[in-house]
Amino acid sequence: MTLERTLVFIKPDGVERGLVGEILTRFERVGLTIVGMKMVWVDQDHTKKHYQAHVDKPFYLPIEEFITSGPVVAFVLEGHAAVALVRKMVGGTEPHSAAPGTIRGDYAHMNYAFADSDEGKSLGLRNVIHASGEKDEADKEIELWFTPEELHSYQLVHHKHMRG
Ligand code: PPS
Repeated sequence: MTLERTLVFIKPDGVERGLVGEILTRFERVGLTIVGMKMVWVDQDHTKKHYQAHVDKPFYLPIEEFITSGPVVAFVLEGHAAVALVRKMVGGTEPHSAAPGTIRGDYAHMNYAFADSDEGKSLGLRNVIHASGEKDEADKEIELWFTPEELHSYQLVHHKHMRG
């Protein structure tokens, strides 16, 4: 079995732009299972833990201000090789170069040049959504964002066709 779980959150720009439903629909349409979901307004401590690989980078403070500026919608998706599949659907980190058809490519257009400029730094890279990069990262991120009691195993009616 190649079943995996991956951590996703719709960032404050996606929530405030009313994109939650459209984004969830994309994941449901490919047959991924939502095994946990919540709206949460994270604090600086949680953001530092999540982005611990980036805390020393020049763009960290804008990330922290952006991610703590409003609620995010976090969820865990399950499916075959779900980590890579979800990253493919999310698209590249920079919306400007993310492929059309991906979430970042379809719903945002900010580039690194603007995000790193004096004007852009106050906004942070507005790329709508985060998804775990690899399996180990997904496991750690799921543990950071969800308790075991918040995750549920159940059958979608189309598991017969999607999960084998
Ligand atoms: S990756 O593959 O998504 O982890 O890409 P990476 O570039 O390593 O991740 C960097 C995370 O920091 C966010 N961020 C920025 N990256 C680069 N430049 C700027 N200016 C910047 N501002 C914010 C970027 O969105 C990645 O976080 P996530 O949550 O994965 O999008």
